[in-house]
Amino acid sequence: MNPLNHVAIIMDGNGRWGLKNKNSRNAGHKAGLNTVEKIIKETIKNNIKFLTLYAFSTENWKRPKKEIKFLFNLLENFLKDKIEDLNKQKIRLKIIGKKNFSSQLNSLLIKSEKKTSKNKRLQINLALNYGAKTELINAFKELKKNKENINEKNLKKYLETKNIPDPDLLIRTGNTKRLSNFLLWQVAYSEIFFEKKLWPDFNERDYTKMIKKFRSIKRNFGKI
Ligand code: FPP
Repeated sequence: MNPLNHVAIIMDGNGRWGLKNKNSRNAGHKAGLNTVEKIIKETIKNNIKFLTLYAFSTENWKRPKKEIKFLFNLLENFLKDKIEDLNKQKIRLKIIGKKNFSSQLNSLLIKSEKKTSKNKRLQINLALNYGAKTELINAFKELKKNKENINEKNLKKYLETKNIPDPDLLIRTGNTKRLSNFLLWQVAYSEIFFEKKLWPDFNERDYTKMIKKFRSIKRNFGKI
């Protein structure tokens, strides 16, 4: 049975779900947040230690301002409401991506990270303003600045995910098969599951089924 330490998720399909069911993309994001909560609970149940969620990419800035504002309001309210509870559940929150939001949101994110920094039950890496290409370019710049050799070990030190094991399982919902600039280095050997359901429709049972299937796969890592 494969060990499962890290699940990464591209939570795609909120906009389509919202338009179809409530005639509003933003309603889809709101519904998507409920799925986030369900999946966090199920991740803990399965004793998985790292969960990385792609919430906002460097490319998502191209969306209408109104949608961007809605997403960050949703995040802000979620953290204000839930950070105490996450902390009580011994969940650590880490942001990956550059925190260049409003000063209010930046400080809330920093506060939430600090508050939960000692927690060990589950680490949630929330990818916000994250892009793998930017991450890799920054890492190479650091290597150059510090006159270090270019090798895997040195490069990893400068990734947003330093000290985090690579994802074992990558899930993308929303019936689309692409990586969208997410963790390009880190998913080199991840098992990738594409799910037809839109993120708000994805549920604990779908997730558990994937985990079960993942456990039974023969992972070779280049060997035979
Ligand atoms: C992709 O669906 C989803 C996002 C860009 C945002 C993800 C946000 C959430 C799941 C809710 C908020 C989460 C937190 C942690 C506050 P899409 O909008 O690209 O969907 P589409 O492909 O149907 O347009």
